[in-house]
Amino acid sequence: MFFTNKIGDYMVIKICMGSSCHLKGSYEVVEKIKEMNLEGVKLYGSLCFGKCANGINIEIDGVLISSVTPDNVKEKIEKFLKEGN
Ligand code: FES
Repeated sequence: MFFTNKIGDYMVIKICMGSSCHLKGSYEVVEKIKEMNLEGVKLYGSLCFGKCANGINIEIDGVLISSVTPDNVKEKIEKFLKEGN
């Protein structure tokens, strides 16, 4: 289980549900994030971020993270929690 470093606040993760990201597996990305049992996190679906070629795109606290896949999403989120990008 991972904890965010925000206390009394939520980390917001938005997952692109636009057609391109959806076809690349954004629903599976959502399921993988749920499996992480992150504390203090709110998950939202989002409309297209306009960066389809680099999808799947997610946004964590306003920071866009591209080239996400169901296989690498945990690694990408852990990197964000450690390094902020
Ligand atoms: S569909 Fe995801 S960025 Fe366009």
